[in-house]
Amino acid sequence: MQIAPSILSADFARLDEEINAVGADADWVHVDVMDNHFVPNLTLGLPVVAALLKHSPLPLDCHLMIEDPDRWALAYAEAGAGSVTFHAEAAHAPVRLARALRAAGARAGLAVKPATPIDPYAELLSEIDTVLIMSVEPGFGGQEFLELVLPKVRRARELVREGEHNVWIQMDGGVDEDTITRCVEAGADVFVAGSSVYGTDDPAEAVRRLRGVAEVAACGAWWCGG
Ligand code: DX5
Ligand code: ZN
Repeated sequence: MQIAPSILSADFARLDEEINAVGADADWVHVDVMDNHFVPNLTLGLPVVAALLKHSPLPLDCHLMIEDPDRWALAYAEAGAGSVTFHAEAAHAPVRLARALRAAGARAGLAVKPATPIDPYAELLSEIDTVLIMSVEPGFGGQEFLELVLPKVRRARELVREGEHNVWIQMDGGVDEDTITRCVEAGADVFVAGSSVYGTDDPAEAVRRLRGVAEVAACGAWWCGG
């Protein structure tokens, strides 16, 4: 079980401190790149990611909510991001892009919005390292978790198991101490958490608690062998 706090809910004027506040407890720092075209919000881009890479004790997990990932994603891998995730709805040549990201030394992630099915992407599972399943409409932190995505998480886990793929299944949106149990039970193993981490007084403790709840849920999960 891995926890990736999203700095979308952190103080953008103090990102270095905010990342270090979870540094010892989290696995990744989730960075939401939004271009105001693919989603109706604008956050940060490559120059800020390059600066964060110099300061972060954790690898960066860059989630690109942008219109033209074929054009822009590779630069994030080349800058040193540990994982680069692009959206299925936006990529024109996802196989070529995933291969380029891997060749640059990053994990390649494929993200799907809540209403995008996973089955059409089954053939891509051998080309990627992570499937990111959005459990809110992308664009903003602090939204309510969409239960309707859970069957898709289960389906993604089935496809990964059937194909014996080494692919992580990441949930992003509305993950908290309540919803994380249902995410684990369905088949997810990596959890993005923005407001449920940075909306608290003690982000490191929030990460520890999320991990604890996820690990308990994993013990009895159908896909975990526990
Ligand atoms: C939303 C972003 C998420 C966001 C999650 O488009 O992709 O990563 O930060 O925030 P919470 O955890 O508050 O839903
Ligand atoms: Zn995200």
